[in-house]
Amino acid sequence: MDTKYLIANWKANKTLREAQQWVQTFVQQERKARQYVVCPPFPFISHLAETGRGIFSVGAQDMSQYAAGPYTGEVSPYNLQDLGVKYVILGHSERRKFFGETSAQVAQKVEQALSGGFTPIVCIDRNEFQAQADQIDRSYYSRMIIAYEPVHAISTFGGQEDPIETTVETVMQLQEIFDEAPVLYGGSADSQNSLIYLQQPAISGLLVGKASLDPLEFSKM
Ligand code: PGA
Repeated sequence: MDTKYLIANWKANKTLREAQQWVQTFVQQERKARQYVVCPPFPFISHLAETGRGIFSVGAQDMSQYAAGPYTGEVSPYNLQDLGVKYVILGHSERRKFFGETSAQVAQKVEQALSGGFTPIVCIDRNEFQAQADQIDRSYYSRMIIAYEPVHAISTFGGQEDPIETTVETVMQLQEIFDEAPVLYGGSADSQNSLIYLQQPAISGLLVGKASLDPLEFSKM
């Protein structure tokens, strides 16, 4: 069985000092056998890539749909070269809801991410997965990771978890649609419930928001 992913999405939280403290604490913990990925805000990427080497990989939480060029405020795939970034979260429901990101834009970002050599972690809600799949070039599916994130289960939007059977069923549907790409689950995962998800063979890992902010909690998942 492949080692399961445990991916921290810090969102717009933490100062540099707090990020440094998180790493210091996390590296000292006894950890499970997981593929750890930490996705901090852009300014902390370099620091985490250096200090977490050998313990966790680093990802970005978003990326421009455009290549390098005159796009003030954007972070292009070109900017993310040479920083040690391996993964990029795309199409998170907060981006879709608060910033009006569309599935067409997410599909463009997937293309940019792959051309930059990054593995896209594409977040998909239950209501939109066929629409999202239709926008993305099918030849890319096998190079992506899917994160199934029912919006109502994310702590930001209320944290109402579904029964595990419903989650597994949906994850398997996504695997089929996306040509057996690994499918993660995300939505209020923490050290109390993580094993319920991680012991399911269909679920390849967890995308963790709130609980990832605490290094002790994250290391127990
Ligand atoms: P949560 O966030 O773990 O705080 O629910 C998950 C996510 O937004 O990816």
